[in-house]
Order: sequence, then C-alpha cells, then structure tokens
Amino acid sequence: QHLPALLAAMPKAELHMHIEGSLEPEMIFALAQRNGVALPYASVDALRAAYAFTDLQSFLNIYYAGASVLLTEQDFHDMAWAYLQRAAADHVVRAEIFFDPQTHTARGVPMATVINGLARACDAAHEQLGVSAALILCFLRHLSEDEALATLAEALPYRQHFIGVGLDSSEVGHPPEKFSRVFAQARAHGLHVVAHAGEEGPPDYIWQALDVLHAERIDHGVQATRDAALMQRLARERIPLTVCPLSNQKLQVFPDLRQHPLKALLDAGLCATVNSDDPAYFGGYVGDNLQAVFAASDMDANHAWQLAANSFEASFAPEADKAVWR
Ligand code: HPA
Ligand code: ZN
Repeated sequence: QHLPALLAAMPKAELHMHIEGSLEPEMIFALAQRNGVALPYASVDALRAAYAFTDLQSFLNIYYAGASVLLTEQDFHDMAWAYLQRAAADHVVRAEIFFDPQTHTARGVPMATVINGLARACDAAHEQLGVSAALILCFLRHLSEDEALATLAEALPYRQHFIGVGLDSSEVGHPPEKFSRVFAQARAHGLHVVAHAGEEGPPDYIWQALDVLHAERIDHGVQATRDAALMQRLARERIPLTVCPLSNQKLQVFPDLRQHPLKALLDAGLCATVNSDDPAYFGGYVGDNLQAVFAASDMDANHAWQLAANSFEASFAPEADKAVWR
C-alpha cells in the first residue's frame, strides 16, 4: 500500500533511456503520416503486436524500423518532449537521455537536425517542467570504430548540447575494446563515458568497459552477478549500474522478474539504479519499472530510498543540483 505510493512519489533520476525507444506506436504512425514515410505495418495494433521479443537483436530490428519515421528537427523535438512530460509525471527531476545519431545520419538526416531538436526539448523541459535533462550520444557497436570516430567528429560542433558518450546496440560479438580509441577521444574532450555491458554479454565485457573504456557507469551490467570478483569491485568503487527490469524481462534476460537480481545487487552494496531503457517497447516508464520489480520481490522502503539516492549519486548533474534533490 505505502510502497507503491512511495515509489511513484519519490523524486528520481532516470539515467538509462534511449529516446528512440520512447516512440509510442501512435507517434510512429503520426510521424509516418506527417512525413510520408511508408511503414511495413498496417496499423498501430499490428505494430504493437510485433512487440514480442526473443532477445536483444529481435528488439533492435523493430526499434530501428520505428526510428525511420524521424526526419525533421520538429520530429526529434516532439519525441523528446513527449518523453519528458511523461518523465515529469513519474517525478523524474533529472533525465540523462541516450540518442543514436548513426541511426539517423545513415538515412541522410543531418546531425544538426537530430541534436538541435532534442536539445530544444531538453531546454523546454527545464523551463516548463522543472526537469533537468541532458543528452548522451551513443555509438552503435554493430558498426565499426571508424564510423564511431566519424560520428564523434560530426557531433563535436554541437559539443555544448551533450554531456557524454555511450555504447549500445548488438552486444555479443562487439566487445567494448573495439571502441577504445573513440572513447579515449571522447574523454579528451571532457565528455562523460558510459557503456552498455553485461546485458546479454559476459562479465568480461564489463571488465573491458571499466579498464579499457574507463566507463563511469555500466548500463545494464546484470551479468556481473556471475563474477564474484567483479561484484566486489563494482561495490567497492561504487560504479553505478543502470538496471532496466522490464527490458530484461521482455528481452528474455530474466523472463521471470522474480528471478531478477536487482535486490541482490543492492544488498551486495552496489550502486544499482532502476530505469526504463525503451519504455514504448518494454511495457512501461520508470515508475512502471519500479512498481513491477518491487511487486515481484520482497524489497522494502529502504530499497526504494536506496534506489532514489543511488540515481542521484550516479547522475552527472552538477553537485549543487544533486544536493537539493537528495
Ligand atoms: N541494449 C542495447 N542497445 C539498445 C538497447 C538495449 O537495451 N536499447 C536501445 N538500444
Ligand atoms: Zn539500453
């Protein structure tokens, strides 16, 4: 009774959300119509019916198809603004938002269109919703490091509009070390660095993200539970894991949320956080993720409080802001 209300009302930061994964089917169809883009689905219901994923790749195929409706700066703005309003309703006071520029530049959409549209929505969220929002540029790991280097160079004219870089898309077969040079360059530009690791991939990818990329946070990281030495390091160094329970369930990483390791991670002293990953595809926003994972476990109000505190500790917001939220 009290716990659902606490989870809903507590101020929180969301640190692992792909903005292209916030495109609801209704908005995909509206943008397709606005832009004259043909979709391989007859209706909103037919599209939603395709959201039956067996693993990460089966999701990514549909996620990239959905993103093909985004063409104009207004499209990118409208997508981000819809997410930020939804986040504010979940008492998100800080959002660090991933975007995948290569998904768009490969279709001929200019980098400026992508970044300016998203940045305008982030500015509006701060002014109109009281949500502090920032962007993290993700490299697609199924593409080459040279393509990532070209993408970073293309984005650097807009350096003031993003706070960091990340690494996403198909994990297995694309280890973090493949991107050592581009992450070194990003760090040299003063950008924060994070990486998806240990979602489907092995604990070794988490070690690489830490030791080769110098990642400040690990996105997902749930496979760390298979490596006791890694668990000790993550706890000792308070390296945050941005965990996404409904994503893990829908992509069959933990098909039964009762098997999800969130409580084990918290009880082992790790700085775990709860996030939505791709809320339009995985059945809910950050509040829904919290409700679902608590309903499937015996976590209590102390765990809830710890998750909120962790989300601010793990965020890249200015310390002065964090002091207010905590
Ligand atoms: N993993 C990897 N890449 C992604 C994800 C994810 O969960 N969501 C969007 N791109
Ligand atoms: Zn993700």
